[in-house]
Amino acid sequence: MIPQGINLLYLPPFSIIGRFFATAVLFGVIEGIFLVYQSLTGKFFLFPTVHLFTLGFMTLTMIGALFQMLPVVAGAVIENPLDKAFVVHTILSLGAFLLPLGAVLGSFPLVLLSLLFLLFGVFYIVPTMLKKLFSVKELRDAPRGFRYALLSFGIGVVLAALLVLGYTGLLQINYSYLLNLHLSFMLFGWTATLVASVSFQVIEMFFVTPPYPKVLTRNLAKVTFFLLLLKFLLPQVIIIDGIISLLFITYGVITIDRLRKRRRKLPDPLIYLWYVGMVSLIFSSLLYPFRFEVFYPFLVSFGVFVLSVIMSMMYRIIPFLVWMHLMNKGITNAPTMHQVIEPDSIWTNFYVHLSAIVSLILLISGEKLLPSLFFLINFLLLAVNIYRGISTYIAYSRHGKF
Ligand code: HEM
Repeated sequence: MIPQGINLLYLPPFSIIGRFFATAVLFGVIEGIFLVYQSLTGKFFLFPTVHLFTLGFMTLTMIGALFQMLPVVAGAVIENPLDKAFVVHTILSLGAFLLPLGAVLGSFPLVLLSLLFLLFGVFYIVPTMLKKLFSVKELRDAPRGFRYALLSFGIGVVLAALLVLGYTGLLQINYSYLLNLHLSFMLFGWTATLVASVSFQVIEMFFVTPPYPKVLTRNLAKVTFFLLLLKFLLPQVIIIDGIISLLFITYGVITIDRLRKRRRKLPDPLIYLWYVGMVSLIFSSLLYPFRFEVFYPFLVSFGVFVLSVIMSMMYRIIPFLVWMHLMNKGITNAPTMHQVIEPDSIWTNFYVHLSAIVSLILLISGEKLLPSLFFLINFLLLAVNIYRGISTYIAYSRHGKF
């Protein structure tokens, strides 16, 4: 039952990933409520809507997953992980909440305060993780990709800080140039690169598929990062965007192909979520070179890609880790993975997720309430299931350390 290629000797405490995922799904619910609020009032706040999701839901999940994966997958052990996770989780959560709030309220001091939190959180943990990753000699392709993702995240945050200073009028900047770089580094350098690198490790392992081609696992993250750096010098050269787009379309197509060739052909919502995620990534990558003409379809399809993949990963990781940690504690009557989160609950969430995506078609006719409600229910189901998984762990390990 223990997947190959991971080192369980360095398994970090469950409370680390537990707290990041629990807060991330809470941000998902806040995002859902905010979407419904906006459709009821007819108001639309792009920046807070985007950042509740990208910072609150996505980034908290991704940093939590890295805390888990660095020691287990890369052998890069972070010392005192509980203390570090406590600081980073608290400060990033505060920043991710206050940034959209400050923007909605039009409060510059609040936006600046949130920026301080976010800068502190990011520049506390990103260099620590990078240092660990660079100190490991024989690194596999997956964790090698983590390095480029983290570097992109750091660059994306510096660009974000400049944007905020420009936004609040404290600095004269070339706004559209920096915005273009910020979103490219954050979406493709940080998010898509990290998802791809993680999948190089887990798709084959979790779903028993043929391996990815070496040429892709070895080069995707590196080439994407260098193309993004090139965009600093050549921001208008569309061919760079075209190559980034092609790279991720290739990755998406190959992932779908690998999943179709999996050994176990039983219907599995976690695999279908990956399919949905990859189709959305392919669509979003196709739009990327033309993003300013089709900004919303580009952003929304990218969001659907990340949401689908994160749902699949959470539904796999939480039951596995709950079971694993309880077994490690010697709890002999530990629930099986299917008892931690029942497959029926995951199927229900999958169908709601699909309905939410299909309902996006209504946006064309200006109907926003129904899609917003679907996404709210989607996030609520995810949160309830993840909380049930986490509370199962707490209930069984009451005498242990949480
Ligand atoms: C340190 C945290 C961050 C800060 C302070 C920040 C700040 C900003 C600012 C000021 C803008 C321009 C807003 C506008 O003109 O409408 C922006 C845009 C954007 N950011 Fe971020 N950002 C952060 C993190 C992220 C992350 C982690 C992602 C994605 C993974 C992201 C994705 C985007 C996207 C897609 C846009 C364009 C849409 C929009 O304008 O809202 N950002 N960001």
